[in-house]
Amino acid sequence: MNLSRRVIETPPYLFHLIDAKRKAAQEKGIDVISLGIGDPDRPTPGFVLDLMDQEMRDPRNHVYPSYKGEPDFCTLVAEWFSDRFGVTLDPEAEIMATIGAKDAVSHLPFAFLDPGDLGLATDPGYPVYQTAIRFAGAEVVHIPLFEQRGFLPDLDAIDPKVADKAKIIFVNYPNNPTSAVADEGFFQKLVAFARRHHLVILSDNAYSEVYFEEEDRPISIMKIDGAKETAVEIHSFSKTFNMTGWRIGFVTGGKELINAFLTLKSNFDSGVFMAVQRAAARALKHPDAAGFHQQRTALFKERRDRIARSLKDAGFRFQLPRASYYFWVRIPDSYASAVAFAADLLEKAGLVVTPGVGYGPSGEGWFRISMTTPDHRIDEAMERLEKFVKEQL
Ligand SMILES: Cc1ncc(COP(=O)(O)O)c(C=O)c1O
Repeated sequence: MNLSRRVIETPPYLFHLIDAKRKAAQEKGIDVISLGIGDPDRPTPGFVLDLMDQEMRDPRNHVYPSYKGEPDFCTLVAEWFSDRFGVTLDPEAEIMATIGAKDAVSHLPFAFLDPGDLGLATDPGYPVYQTAIRFAGAEVVHIPLFEQRGFLPDLDAIDPKVADKAKIIFVNYPNNPTSAVADEGFFQKLVAFARRHHLVILSDNAYSEVYFEEEDRPISIMKIDGAKETAVEIHSFSKTFNMTGWRIGFVTGGKELINAFLTLKSNFDSGVFMAVQRAAARALKHPDAAGFHQQRTALFKERRDRIARSLKDAGFRFQLPRASYYFWVRIPDSYASAVAFAADLLEKAGLVVTPGVGYGPSGEGWFRISMTTPDHRIDEAMERLEKFVKEQL
């Protein structure tokens, strides 16, 4: 059988691999606690289920959806966008529904890259940025993120010749895996950089609603003058309403950019189940949404502080997350690699963490902990981690 180079050269998907390791450990009788994937442990809230129940029973929702997203989905998203980010979007031209953020991340590069082009991606980063650039036949240029710069890219350090040759830049704030946040000043510089080098910014804002303090409330790049002509912003309902399994998100951007993506997407898939679109969009404006958001923030703040206490006591180096679900932590000095540390932690403590190198070369020396595990399991995980450090290091 002739497999494509695309398949042969693509390593197994990071979380698929981690899942296999977790299963193998469980089969050996180890009681494994996963702090790996960022999949909320709490269910989708009841008010969203009620909306879905109504929409699902409406036969008008049972036919093929429109490729771009239903007009009422786009209108409700535009209203929410204006309330939440203070940005006016044209629902007809500047919003498009997607099958979650991953659909957008994995397919947008095809709209802007040709074989032989360059695509910039911040490193460490969500692994799909790199694979999507490669699938489009282009080459990935890693833009390293350093702790001392708050895990924001140093745009001035990018070789202008490379920036001129590149066609896109992926950024992601709030950031997975480092949990860093970016302010308006950063996005202004980024838009100016992109305009100077004729780049399309693909700004992944999947964690826009997962933050801890009002002062860290994420903004939209669409707020910046000129952004609509040079950026596409990616959004997701997965983290906003614990809807990872529902597969719904959207992208925003100027008409030309959205149209380019629509040309592709109308050939890739046939849209998102209309009932899901309508339930999700109505959820944004639902009177219970604010209460749900407050409860979720309180829950994750408690978990964050619980985990931070243990990591500190155990002597790990990390910064307190300001947004997203993740802790980005230095591996102990006695380990040569993040993979070796993660493997040891699984074998000796039954804990799954993600080795940082899975997010790109700059992730070497780091590991990621996700807070999306029930509280009693987090307590147990932290006890095991502290014991592991005392006994093994
Ligand atoms: C940075 C980032 N972008 C996109 C996604 C995909 O989100 P969705 O579930 O909407 O496809 C994830 C999922 O973990 C993510 O961490």
